Amino acid sequence: MMMSDDARPVARRELLRFVLQSPLLWTAAALAPAVEARPELAVPTGAAEALDVFQMERVAQQKLALPVLHYIASAADDGKTLQANRDAFDAWAIRVRRLVDVSRIGLGTRVLGETLECPVILAPVGNQQSIHPDGELATARAARAAGQLMIASTVTNHSVGAIARASGPLWFQLYASPDHGLMEKLIHDAEAAGCGVLVLTVDSNTRGNREGEAWWARVAGSRTAPLPLGNFTGHSGPPRVGDAALTWDVIDWIRARTPLKLALKGIVTREDAALAVARGVDGLIVSNHGGRQEESLRSTLASLPEVVEAAAGRIPVLVDGGFRRGTDVFKALALGASAICIGRPYLWGLGAFGEDGVARVLTILREELKRIMQFAGTTSLAAIKRSSLEKAG
Ligand SMILES: Cc1cc2nc3c(=O)[nH]c(=O)nc-3n(C[C@H](O)[C@H](O)[C@H](O)COP(=O)(O)O)c2cc1C
Repeated sequence: MMMSDDARPVARRELLRFVLQSPLLWTAAALAPAVEARPELAVPTGAAEALDVFQMERVAQQKLALPVLHYIASAADDGKTLQANRDAFDAWAIRVRRLVDVSRIGLGTRVLGETLECPVILAPVGNQQSIHPDGELATARAARAAGQLMIASTVTNHSVGAIARASGPLWFQLYASPDHGLMEKLIHDAEAAGCGVLVLTVDSNTRGNREGEAWWARVAGSRTAPLPLGNFTGHSGPPRVGDAALTWDVIDWIRARTPLKLALKGIVTREDAALAVARGVDGLIVSNHGGRQEESLRSTLASLPEVVEAAAGRIPVLVDGGFRRGTDVFKALALGASAICIGRPYLWGLGAFGEDGVARVLTILREELKRIMQFAGTTSLAAIKRSSLEKAG
């Protein structure tokens, strides 16, 4: 039967939704046989039921509109960098140790003056009200309840001040802008909100080619009004983020305007790590924006060791990209990271069950990290060493 022109996009959309919701897609390998046997039970109905972050993803897929799902899932070009981030964890095997008293495990650490109860930080993500009506406030409340640190994005729907009132310790992620007045306002607002650290994202001199996002923006764009961005109210002029002319001089420019500590997010080479240390930057986050910017095919876990080597213990190195299991966190810590950040996993929690979903994702990862530390005989984060790993295969 021929489809009318009007019916075709709807049918395509339904097909996509069907494919995305296939019970076996995105299921953790361990659960695949159970899901195959009883697909009707594959989707948790409450946050506490989710056994792993992949199950949270399944709930989010069922609940969220397709443009929002694509906003979260989108990656540059063919998604190979996104995939590389995940695959990199399989390159490392964990060398466990026996007969160590692991009845007490310490997950706490200090990073850039902040006491963290767990080395898992919520990475900056904009526009969270598109995922849940409470947006960044739900994320902030879950982070506060768990005693975990959140980094607020420049492009949040709530203002950094409002997020700070709902959260525990908060850092602020700053996008550069050719509008220096806007950057000054953002820095001032972050300071007034009590943020301890400015995190300047340096991988965004242009926008990644996210075709999935662009396609859905076109399909749905005419029907959905953009949500307000809380940090831009009171600023006259358009919210211009991303500056193609950005250079290392921005460090001195920021230093001249604020006493806040400054970390760079998006450093992936030893050369840039050395330049950052020479410029007096306080910390680094190894990141490729979750595979959303350049299609480099280079995972952040593969980039981490050379950045750690160049930093040489002078400043802390954090990392994000593809962290989905406690064992992933363990591997990054063994390769020298001081802490890790997650993006999509907590967005799945947020889309699935709001604040409760974010809280459950944090619990899952904390428990998984604690479990592998017990098996590995590492009672504190400091005990996780390079010798805890070997090349897999
Ligand atoms: C939907 C979405 C929006 C994001 N928005 C921002 C942002 O506003 N600023 C930023 O520095 N990074 C942003 N990121 C990147 C994250 O901070 C982080 O680097 C990335 O999500 C980590 O990879 P993961 O999602 O695999 O955990 C965003 C990521 C996603 C998925």
